[in-house]
Amino acid sequence: MSSDVTNPCALVLFGSTGDLTRRKIMPALYSLAKQKLLPPTFAIVAFARRDKDDATYREDVRAAIREFAPALQPEGPEWDAFAQNIFYLRSTLDDSEGYHRLANLLDTLDEERHLGGNRLFYLATPPENFLEIIDHLGRAGLNRQKTPQSWTRIVVEKPFGYDLASARQLNAELRARFREDQIFRIDHYLGKEAVQNILVLRFANHIFEPLFNKNYIDHVQIIVAETIGVEGRGNYFDKSGITRDMIQNHALQVLTLVAMEPPISLHADAVRDEKVKTLRSLRPFSREDVAQRTVRGQYGPGKIVIDGKEMEVPGYREEEGVDPKSTTETFAAIHFALENWRWAGVPFYVLAGKRLPKRVTEVQIQFKAVPDVLFARTAAEGLRPNRLVIRIQPDEGAFFEVCSKVPGPGLKIQTVQMDFKYGSAFSVPVHDAYERLLLDAIRGDASLFARGDEVEAAWEVVTPILEAWEHLTCPVFPNYPAGTWGPKAAADLLREGQVWRIPQ
Ligand code: BG6
Repeated sequence: MSSDVTNPCALVLFGSTGDLTRRKIMPALYSLAKQKLLPPTFAIVAFARRDKDDATYREDVRAAIREFAPALQPEGPEWDAFAQNIFYLRSTLDDSEGYHRLANLLDTLDEERHLGGNRLFYLATPPENFLEIIDHLGRAGLNRQKTPQSWTRIVVEKPFGYDLASARQLNAELRARFREDQIFRIDHYLGKEAVQNILVLRFANHIFEPLFNKNYIDHVQIIVAETIGVEGRGNYFDKSGITRDMIQNHALQVLTLVAMEPPISLHADAVRDEKVKTLRSLRPFSREDVAQRTVRGQYGPGKIVIDGKEMEVPGYREEEGVDPKSTTETFAAIHFALENWRWAGVPFYVLAGKRLPKRVTEVQIQFKAVPDVLFARTAAEGLRPNRLVIRIQPDEGAFFEVCSKVPGPGLKIQTVQMDFKYGSAFSVPVHDAYERLLLDAIRGDASLFARGDEVEAAWEVVTPILEAWEHLTCPVFPNYPAGTWGPKAAADLLREGQVWRIPQ
C-alpha cells in the first residue's frame, strides 16, 4: 500500500561492499539524510564477508561518497549523525548462524532505537546469491513481520533472472517467503524523473493522448546509448549482453510507458496491470522474426570522446573478464510490434549499445506526414512530420518539432522545436533515481517497481530472441568500431522512408 509515511526502520544491505552500494546506494541514502527525508530513527546494517567493524565500514562508506558523489560532502556533524546509524555484521552469505546473529542485532537495534520492528532487506549482491539469501532469511524467520503493526520488505536488484525460466524460479522462491506486496523489484530507470514524466506528458495533457495511436504515429524509436564499455564488469556482462542488461528491463519499461493504455488510477497495481497488458501484446518472436527484426553487434577497438577528451579504447574482446572469442552482443537493435488496436502496424524500434558516440537515452515519437496537399509542391523541402522527443538523459526534458514558416518573402518551411528542459523549467535539482526508489521502498509505494508477472512478461518477449541468436549464424564480430553508432545492418531494420534519428 502506498503511503507518505517514512516509518523508522532498519535497512539490511547484502552486497554492501560492492560497486552498486558504493556508487549508488550509499550516496543516495546520504543525500536523503541531508534532505531530511529519511525516517526519524534509522539503521543501516551491512551484512558482508570481509573483516571489518562498524568504524572501518563507516569510513569505507565515506570514501565511496567522496569518490562517487563528492558534492554531498560527507563531513562535519551532518556526516557524524548519519554515520552513527551504520553497522557492520560480518558473515558469509551461506552461514545460517550469521542470519541468526542478524536477527539478534535487529532486535537490539529495534529496542535501542525504537525502529518499530520495520525491516527492509536489500539484495544488491550478484544475482547468483539471491536464492541463497532469500532462503536463509526465511529459515531465520526474518521474512515474517515482527509485530502486526510492523512491516518487512525485500528489495531485489537487477538482473532479475537470466531468462524466463530463471526469472520464474526467482519469483517462486520469493513468493514462497514473502507476499507480492512485500517484494520490490528494482529497475532504476523507473526512478528517473523523465521516465516518470512519460505518464504525465501523456495523460495530463490533452494534446498528446488522442494522437498516440496507429492513425497518427508512424513509428517510435527508443534509443539507449552509452559511451562506456563494460567498466571492469566483463565477467558479468559477457554472460549477459546488452539485451539482458538494458533491453529486457530498462528499454521495455520505457516502451510500456509510451504504449500502455491509461490506467484506472495511479495505484501501483492499476499502473502495472496496464504495463503487463502492453508487454503481453508484443508480438512473439519466431526464429524467422528474429532473423528479420533484430540486429546485434559487438564493438571493436576505436576512439571515443568522454568528458570532451578523445581516447583510444580496446575492443570488447580485449576487455578484462571477456572471452577473447566472445559472441556476446554489446549492441542490439530490435523491431518490436504491438498487436493491439491502438498500435497495430506501428513499429517500436529499440536501439541499445555500449561504446556508442554519445551517452543519451531518448524516446522519439515520429508522427505521420501530413497529406500531400497545400505545401507539398511549394515548400516540400522543409516539410517534415512532427516529432515528439522525450529526453530521458542527459538534459532531461522533451521537445516537439513542428513546421513553421521562415520569415521573409515567399514560402519556405522549416522545422522548429518547442523545447522544455528540466534544468531551466524548474529551479530544483534532479535527484538520482536511487533516491526516489529507496524512499518509495521505505514508504511502501511499489508503483515504480516491477511486479513479478511484469518481469516474466518481459522475459517472455526477450527469451526467444536470445534463444534464436544461439541458433542463427552469428555476424562476424566485431562489427562496429567503438565510437560509432553500431553495425550498418541496423539501418536495414527500418521500413522504407524511416531512418534512425541519431540524437544530436
Ligand atoms: C545498468 C546496467 O542497469 O544500467 C549497466 O547494468 C548500464 O550496464 C546502466 O551501464 C546504465 O544506467 P544509467 O542510469 O547510467 O543509464
